[in-house]
Amino acid sequence: RDAGVMAGELLDWYDRHARDMPWRVGPADRAAGIAPDPYAVWMSEVMLQQTTVAAVRDYFTRFMALWPTVHDLANAEDARVMGEWAGLGYYARARNLLKCARVVSRELDGAFPDTLDGLKALPGIGPYTAAAIAAIAFDRSETVVDGNVERVMARLFCIEDPMPGSKPALRDAAATLTPKARPGDYAQAVMDLGATICTPKSPACGICPWRDDCAGRAKGVQAALPAREAKKPK
Ligand code: ADE
Repeated sequence: RDAGVMAGELLDWYDRHARDMPWRVGPADRAAGIAPDPYAVWMSEVMLQQTTVAAVRDYFTRFMALWPTVHDLANAEDARVMGEWAGLGYYARARNLLKCARVVSRELDGAFPDTLDGLKALPGIGPYTAAAIAAIAFDRSETVVDGNVERVMARLFCIEDPMPGSKPALRDAAATLTPKARPGDYAQAVMDLGATICTPKSPACGICPWRDDCAGRAKGVQAALPAREAKKPK
């Protein structure tokens, strides 16, 4: 099926089923012209790098209440920020969070860059986070690929080669579907699909907006994808 039609099918589903998250500007608000706050998008994506949505929720809300703008966070004391981060783990993220806030506040006038290269130049922002911020905060047509997206693409295109070797093919597949219209909603829609329907175990294919497009389902192998290379004996 045509990539544009498929993106539209997913966006229609997202309009009805988008998960509510404290950092998210939902599809109705976006349609009404409400733009996300790049600072909030950045904060959420850094917290979500190695941590689940459920664990991040309250931390995100607390950080935004304590430090509502990037300037507030830049002027915070290191020990205070590290203390509030306690429990989220991977403390390099918190140190980079502060470094990044100080660069954006003091060198960029508080404005997050809106390009992949500009974002990747900042502390703690790798290719994934840069694409997520560009798409979600600035509605740029960038392809966002996390573990959820890899699983969805492996099933949808029935890519049976094992991970991690199949990563480039999964990324290419994801890129062919990334729309020019509503890329920020689309990026979050694929993640929501992977988290709620196209789940690792027992995917709910019967209610999937892509059920009639899914090559893995047509072949009956969807639940086994993505395959993983067998661990090599040491
Ligand atoms: N995981 C990482 N970023 C996310 C987002 N914006 N929405 C849902 N899950 C995510």
